[in-house]
Amino acid sequence: MSVEPSQGAQPAIENLMDERRVFPPAAEFTANANAQSSIYDEAERDYVAFWERIARDRVSWDTPFETTLEWDLPFAKWFTGGRLNITYNCVDRHVEAGLGSKVAYHWIGEPGDTRTITYADLQREVSKAANALLEVGVTTGDRVAIYMPMIPELPIAMLACARIGAPHTVVFGGFSAEALAGRINDCGARVLITADGGWRRGNRVNLKHHADEAVASTPTIQKVIVVDRLGQGAHMVPRRDVWWHDIVDRQSEHCPPVPVDSEHMLYLLYTSGTTAKPKGILHTTAGYLVGTSFTHEAIFDLKPDDVYWCAADIGWVTGHSYIVYGPLANAATGVIYEGAPDTPTWDRWWQIIEEFKVSILYCAPTAIRAFMKHGPQFPAAHDLSSLRVLGSVGEPINPEAWLWYHEHIGRGTAPIVDTWWQTETGMILITPLPGVTTTKPGSATFPFPGIEADIVDGDGQSVPFGGGGYLVLKRPWPAMLRGIYGDPERYRETYWSRFPGMYFAGDGAKRDEEGYFWLLGRVDDVMNVAGHRISTTEVESALVDHRSVAESAVVGVKDEVSGQAIYAFVILKTGQDPADALAVQLREHVAYVIGPIARPKYLMFVPDLPKTRSGKIMRRLLRDIAEGRTLGDTTTLADATVVETIRENTGKAEE
Ligand code: WTA
Repeated sequence: MSVEPSQGAQPAIENLMDERRVFPPAAEFTANANAQSSIYDEAERDYVAFWERIARDRVSWDTPFETTLEWDLPFAKWFTGGRLNITYNCVDRHVEAGLGSKVAYHWIGEPGDTRTITYADLQREVSKAANALLEVGVTTGDRVAIYMPMIPELPIAMLACARIGAPHTVVFGGFSAEALAGRINDCGARVLITADGGWRRGNRVNLKHHADEAVASTPTIQKVIVVDRLGQGAHMVPRRDVWWHDIVDRQSEHCPPVPVDSEHMLYLLYTSGTTAKPKGILHTTAGYLVGTSFTHEAIFDLKPDDVYWCAADIGWVTGHSYIVYGPLANAATGVIYEGAPDTPTWDRWWQIIEEFKVSILYCAPTAIRAFMKHGPQFPAAHDLSSLRVLGSVGEPINPEAWLWYHEHIGRGTAPIVDTWWQTETGMILITPLPGVTTTKPGSATFPFPGIEADIVDGDGQSVPFGGGGYLVLKRPWPAMLRGIYGDPERYRETYWSRFPGMYFAGDGAKRDEEGYFWLLGRVDDVMNVAGHRISTTEVESALVDHRSVAESAVVGVKDEVSGQAIYAFVILKTGQDPADALAVQLREHVAYVIGPIARPKYLMFVPDLPKTRSGKIMRRLLRDIAEGRTLGDTTTLADATVVETIRENTGKAEE
């Protein structure tokens, strides 16, 4: 849901009014919880000393750090003077500690094939893959692009990069060739690691031909390493392309981890902003490791015997932080599932949980709402008694979905941690602690220890409890982004200029009388579709890219399952026929240019768009129209008749 906090009552606020149930932690859970309330006090006394203690406790350093924080607003450096290798921390030290035979990942392919990867396997495979990268000439500091399905070689490839200090940039496998090429060109990656394809909803999804199309316009790529997932062969370009099994399998199993500076770039992850050009969010090594591993252990209450399943795609930040780096640093046993939740039937997840005795599940509200829609009989048919902690991430979880999750998945006992964070924050920042916090359905509750979050009005003044406004962060934190790749000015401008001295997250939020945070969605022109951030501008550019389109405006509208759905208004060039077939074509065009996640659910041809006198499209009005609300203030409209014409047409929108 997209809201302008200044406009008062919005759905999430009404929910707050209705939702008065509270869920205190069970005494037994509290007694055994990893995180106790004392860590809030410790962090409040001195947040820098707090993170220093955690960094010294948790990280295996090659050279211990000297300074905990150098804060030259908005540029932070954490744990300077230190040197470490993150894969040593995520893999080797566990093997040295005798955990070589512990399972790192239970992997389940969509067709039902499985693989079990222990920490010793991971050490061997990561070393071999790292040696393969060295063989093709990758050195410390070189960027490597990764475009893969959810197969074990994906985390292995990421760790192989990190082992030799080569920053990776993972591009979600659902993105188009064009999106992949744009990201590769922005960071100048030398090598691309991909696969022939993967399985999704019973179909083979070919990735290699997208990769080929992308690489045709990426002059920096010298080598393409291709994992054979589908076993059906692929077109291989001589000298440029090499099969993973041909180059990796013959490598030595030993590859010493390269120690890097605490602030060495670990990865770039591209995310949508309010302009068409995606931003390369830059994360570095030590602070990210400290932030992700500590939050993972504290918030999910991870114990040595837990089986932890984060059902996100590794191509998003949730997968980076809470499938790969955080859990591995904690020697967790994880589950990775390649495919869709409804394949072959809607009980696939519950069957996996029963079979692998999953004890911690972390997923997105959009998934929960989809399960809700198909009914509780699917989870009810399975033994879910192993589950003891549930997590939610990616968008506001509405109280109904929270309560359904609690009742039908958590059997009324497993605590729910609703975790708010972003690609930029790297780690969870607002969340309950499962043994400490009394939860309220729909609220992400309180800032994590050491984090200072606030809600401010348009002038940057803190809003008293009971009020709503803009969510800001007032202190640096270890896993925070260090910048936007190649564009320090855009970093400053995007995150630190709206309210001087504060990081503005782009979200609206409200605090209730007890200080609980309630997230209200994006306040900028970024939509949140099934937990994925997509900028309205990017979709608009993709539409205008089509030869029939003159202009377009895109808004996110409320959607029962995906949170928001994309609604596109399109003005055609003169002489073009607004036929249904063209609408279908345009929606496919967006899927082609950006990826299927950005395909508009609704598309409407309009003769004109509501604009202010200065020519700015009034998205708020378009949203009101799309969601069938009474219109707000239209006095700033240049031409008030436009809205009426559009409104008369809404019934005819293409779905
Ligand atoms: C939204 C995903 C409400 C929010 C980790 C944020 C949430 C954006 C929550 C970041 C939550 C994420 N409650 N909203 N628990 N978690 N969001 O970068 O709008 O893909 O700004 O990172 O998702 O999305 P991103």
